[in-house]
Amino acid sequence: MQLFLDTADLEEIHTGVEQWGVVSGVTTNPTLIAKAGQDHETQVKRICEIVGNVSAECVSEKKDDLIPEGRRIASWHENVIVKVPMTWDGLAAAKVLAGEGVRINVTLCFTVNQALLAATVGAYIVSPFVGRLDDINQDGIRLIRDIVAAYREQGVTTKVLSASLRNPIHVQDSALAGADIATMPFKVMESLVTHPLTDQGVSRFLADYERARAAGRPAAAGADAGAKPDLRSDHRKTQEPKAVEAPQGQAAAKA
Ligand code: E4P
Repeated sequence: MQLFLDTADLEEIHTGVEQWGVVSGVTTNPTLIAKAGQDHETQVKRICEIVGNVSAECVSEKKDDLIPEGRRIASWHENVIVKVPMTWDGLAAAKVLAGEGVRINVTLCFTVNQALLAATVGAYIVSPFVGRLDDINQDGIRLIRDIVAAYREQGVTTKVLSASLRNPIHVQDSALAGADIATMPFKVMESLVTHPLTDQGVSRFLADYERARAAGRPAAAGADAGAKPDLRSDHRKTQEPKAVEAPQGQAAAKA
């Protein structure tokens, strides 16, 4: 499963792509672009200079407006994927644009039937919204699982992009449900690496390393010919079970 950031914030995208090295795409929408405080074209072009697979959303409603808008957005950069809404007009525009070789993301998908329609018009990506379904007491992850199963059954190649993810559990469940891509806010991606035992383990290993170094002990095996160096951490050594002592009475009896 590929990991995308759901943001138009350049700093977050730089961090995900260059610093962490795990981000292979970005999804934007009019809300996220408005937050970034730049005009749509400028911001999308900047994002495309950082990463491939950048979804940029159309705001027209009618097919005859969506088609020229989609062409214009696609011309901004080769990394652009044009997002159209899951409406009859959106699907009709998607079909024309996909026929011209534009990569299309059909967004705002909430049912398997909608996902089948997106596939039928040749969408490159369909975006089911997990969090917004959970918000209204429906099972968002189940929708991902069902779309993946239907696509597999039908031999569909449209990618399933699990969107509107709100927490790390949504991410792992999307992977288990078979999503091709998961897009998430920066905060959610940041939380994926975190576990208290990992943090504790890293601190303990570093402390043991520093203690051994301060004591001037050889850092690696083979420093003392013949003797096998004890490479266990100090922590492990203190955790060794104590040698079992024979109870007093038995020792006396043997003597
Ligand atoms: C991505 O393509 C969607 O626009 C986004 O994931 C929606 O997320 P939200 O439901 O948190 O607004």
